[in-house]
Amino acid sequence: MNTSTSTNVSSSSVSHAQQVMNKLEDFDFPYCDEVTKYEKLAKIGQGTFGEVFKAKHRQTKKVVALKKVLMENEKEGFPITALREIKILQLLNHENVVNLIEICRTKATPFNRYKATFYLVFDFCEHDLAGLLSNVNVKFSLGEIKKVMQQLLNGLYFIHSNKILHRDMKAANILITKNGVLKLADFGLARAFSISKTSQPNRYTNRVVTLWYRPPELLLGERNYGPPVDMWGAGCIMAEMWTRSPIMQGSTEQHQLTLISQLCGSISPETWPGVEKLEFYNKLDLPKGQKRKVKERLRAYVKDPYALDLLDKLLTLDPNKRIDSDNALNHDFFWTDPMPCELAKMLSQHTQSMFEYLAPPRRRVVQQPHAGQPGHQKGMQPSAADGQYHDRVF
Ligand SMILES: Nc1ncnc2c1ncn2[C@@H]1O[C@H](COP(=O)(O)OP(=O)(O)OP(=O)(O)O)[C@@H](O)[C@H]1O
Ligand SMILES: [Mg+2]
Repeated sequence: MNTSTSTNVSSSSVSHAQQVMNKLEDFDFPYCDEVTKYEKLAKIGQGTFGEVFKAKHRQTKKVVALKKVLMENEKEGFPITALREIKILQLLNHENVVNLIEICRTKATPFNRYKATFYLVFDFCEHDLAGLLSNVNVKFSLGEIKKVMQQLLNGLYFIHSNKILHRDMKAANILITKNGVLKLADFGLARAFSISKTSQPNRYTNRVVTLWYRPPELLLGERNYGPPVDMWGAGCIMAEMWTRSPIMQGSTEQHQLTLISQLCGSISPETWPGVEKLEFYNKLDLPKGQKRKVKERLRAYVKDPYALDLLDKLLTLDPNKRIDSDNALNHDFFWTDPMPCELAKMLSQHTQSMFEYLAPPRRRVVQQPHAGQPGHQKGMQPSAADGQYHDRVF
């Protein structure tokens, strides 16, 4: 609506404009309640796309999470990215995917120039995995790690079966309720995918996934990618269950690929047929002669041979050879003793909520200064006490 008033506007039309404004203020949007029905309790997250609050329904007392839709810089009305997130969340209804309850709004008033703010309202989850892993008092047994990974892979199996890619797998986007139920969250970068016909490959953006969890095919410029991008992230998160901090903390795309090569071996057409056709394969400096050391290096943290084997299959360079969620769920890791075990008992010892936003920056171990700005690593800054970037953590 154009609210600008020209100088020769008549008094009657001004009053007409005022009438429209009044109507707007009083308009009762069906299916979109006012957010004032919730009482904000605490801020629990600050993402690139807005703030997240813990809140309580004033009447029912139900506790929820309110995610503000950032409207700044929006000229075209409601942001298309938020619409996409809502559409995808409405489609996905599963035990291991965060539940979107409704969308709420603030009233349009002269004070906000008749621009309402919108909130996504979610079932509240007590913790996120980044918050839990950064707390040394939280100790996961092998059976509990299995339960986390089984639920994470179940969620991925469900979304991939529904032709949705998450595209932002990382510990902070994995929520866990106090009852130990894991929920994939943050569908802000998610999209639908289709299997392309060879004649017309997909051209999705490759500027997705937080740098430290970004798979090699995206770093090399692949635009016709699919579910394996989320499986790489699942591998990074699985390793983090033992190392307790992200395993490859690159500061640039080039640096990230170097770290990947040092862990997973050199990227070459021998181990990854067709990689030479990717846009940046010849433009970037890819370390040569690197041996694959996934099991060898993770063995210091991960004693279970089945866990090491599954990690090896998730952190596979060639996306076509990387294990999918179905096969990962059938892996012996989940079907040998100790079997996956409920998290509720362990979590009941922790009454405080744990979120990445509320946790102190995580410690990193091996020091190596590195120039350059970290890429798309939202909410994860090196601590002032550390002083420097650390190259790797294990
Ligand atoms: N339903 C929820 N229950 C509890 N906490 C939540 C919930 N949803 C989000 N959070 C918390 O808020 C944080 C940010 O939420 P989310 O990841 O959805 O937003 P974002 O703006 O996309 O974040 P970012 O850009 O940092 O990834 C999460 O990491 C989590 O700690
Ligand atoms: Mg997030």
